[in-house]
Formats: sequence, C-alpha cells, structure tokens
Amino acid sequence: MTSKAFIRGVGSYLPARVLTNEQLAKTVDTSDEWIRERTGITQRHIAAEGQNTSDLGYRAAVEALADANMDASEIDLIVLATSTPDLTFPSTATMIQELLGVRSGAAFDVQAVCAGFVYALSIADAMIQTGKGKNVLVIGAETFSRILDWNDRGTCVLFGDGAGAMVLSSTPSTDKGAGEGILNTFIRSDGRHKDLLYVDGGPSSTQTVGKLRMVGNQVFRHAVKELSDSMVQCAKGVNIEISDIDWFVPHQANQRILEAVAKRLDLRRGQVVSTVAYHANTSAASIPLALDTAIRDGRIKRGHKVMLEAFGGGFTWGAALLDY
Ligand code: UT7
Repeated sequence: MTSKAFIRGVGSYLPARVLTNEQLAKTVDTSDEWIRERTGITQRHIAAEGQNTSDLGYRAAVEALADANMDASEIDLIVLATSTPDLTFPSTATMIQELLGVRSGAAFDVQAVCAGFVYALSIADAMIQTGKGKNVLVIGAETFSRILDWNDRGTCVLFGDGAGAMVLSSTPSTDKGAGEGILNTFIRSDGRHKDLLYVDGGPSSTQTVGKLRMVGNQVFRHAVKELSDSMVQCAKGVNIEISDIDWFVPHQANQRILEAVAKRLDLRRGQVVSTVAYHANTSAASIPLALDTAIRDGRIKRGHKVMLEAFGGGFTWGAALLDY
C-alpha cells in the first residue's frame, strides 16, 4: 500500500548579520543601484564566524518540528539539501541528527545545488510512499558566503546564508483545512552545462574547497526555459492546470527570472512569492525560506495549492506541487 506525504510543519532560520548592498559596494566595484536593478536584491544574511550549515539547518528543523507539533524523537529520516556541508564527510544531515538527538532511522545529504530542496522533497516523498520513512525532515541549509570569491562582483553580490525545513509524514496534519500534501514532483539534470555554474575546487580534484564561478547571463536563459517547462510537466502529471494553482514559490535567484517565468506562464504578479530582496540567493534554502515567509504572513493557507520550482548548477532543475 502506498502512503501520501502530508505536510505537517514548515520552519526557517536566518543568521542575524545583515549585509546591505551599500555595505558591499564599499569593498567591491558595484553599486546598490546595479544590484537592485539587475537582481532585485537589497540585502543578504551572513552566518557568523563559527556558525556552520549544520547550525542553520538545526535551527530551521527545530522551527519546523514546533510548527508540526512533533518531537524530534518521532523523526525516522532526515534529508538535507546542501552544497556547503560542514565537512567533506560525514554528511551534515548526520550532524543535524545528532544536534536534534534523533536516535533512529537514517540521515543523508543531497547535492543538487539550488535545486536541492526540490530534489530532497522528491526523495522524501518517494520514501514515504514506499513505506521507508514515516516522519521525514526535509531541510535546505547553506552557507554560500563561505564559497564566494568576494572580489568577483559578478557573483558575490548574489548570494546569502540561511536554512528552511519541512516535516513530511504519512500521518495527515490535524490543522483545519490541511490538504493532501505532495501531489507530484519533477526533477531533471543535464551535465553538459557544468562550466556555466560550478565551484572550482573539491577533495578529489584540487584538495581545496574552491570558489563559486558562474556565467550569469547564460544561466539566466536556461533557467527561465527549464523552470517554466518543469512547472508545466509537474502540474500536467496530476492533471492540474497552472491556472488552478494558488501560489508559486520559486527558487530566489533573481527577481528578473521570477518575472520572466511568471510572464511565460501567464501568472499574476501577486501569486509569486518573492523574498529575493531580503534573502538574496540562499541556494537550497531559498524555497523553504520563502515558503515559510508566506505561511507566517498569512498568504499561504492550509488547503492552498502551491508550486515550488528551482534551477541550479549541473544543471539541475525541478518542481514540486503541494496541496498545503
Ligand atoms: O541559483 C542558481 C541559478 N543562478 C541564477 O539563476 C543566476 C542567473 N543570472 C543572473 O541572475 C544574472 O545574469 C546576473 C545578475 C548574474 C547578471 O545580470 P546580467 O544582466 O545578466 O548582466 P551581465 O552578466 O550580462 O553583465 C552586464 C554588465 C557587465 O559589464 P559590461 O561587460 O557590460 O561592461 C558586467 O561586468 O554588468 C557588469 N556587472 C556588474 N556591474 C556592477 C556584473 N556584475 C556587476 C555588479 N555591479 N555586481
């Protein structure tokens, strides 16, 4: 018998330190005006010294568990999407497992860069459907500030740190009006485009951590097309029309990407949740951070249909349709 993955709770965490465009413009050859016009970003959060991805992920997980009204001891699987792990190994998911005091089940990391949260959701959904997990914590947590070249104005202005989490369960939420959970997921990748967005280091090749490199304008073009297509495919797979969806929660890379995708799919501006101005691009954390923001401020309500979509290095991309 297959089970459904119901959404029990959502939470997020942002490190306290805020770095504004004006502050950045004092150290890099850029301006608040350029960053706002080309990306919509006004500020980003930066993790404190000694504050690692596991710390951010743990804080988001605690928030999601509280929202779900569940105890960490009920969790039997942790799937963490990150490209900025604390160490090469063990997985940061096992570190979060230890911080939470979880003593059962399994924990592992998923690496699909900015599409990581959608990949992690897809895996968690499959694990619940096949009975391999009952209460699954899906986390996106990143400290991209640690892999940026702070002299490269083409990339360092774009990213920030943060974390978001979701508790999925084979047992439905008792929240009034709660929906059917994950309706469908769609994930894809194409390894031909590695050189357009990558980190130039790693344990096997350079024995260094490396820095993020991106040919931004080419990534932009691919992102708009693949994001639009993946949402259409994801909805079509369960016979739902794009026009029947209440909210769109995209990966927050650039306001202009959000608007170009919205135009292609004929979405209303008010339907697209945008947090890029305040969070910048937090990679795998950006979707759960934006989702949590719109749930907390009352826009997204139980029973609403919500489409998540993301695009990242690899390239990797995908979408997930939720009945929240
Ligand atoms: O999350 C994973 C997916 N990532 C993305 O989706 C990112 C996709 N790409 C983008 O968001 C945009 O391409 C960027 C925001 C990265 C760049 O915007 P763009 O409109 O594509 O600009 P561009 O790269 O074509 O550069 C235009 C100009 C260049 O100067 P010249 O050659 O025209 O003189 C750049 O050197 O803007 C210059 N530039 C800057 N100027 C001031 C690039 N970065 C900056 C900067 N400040 N920070």
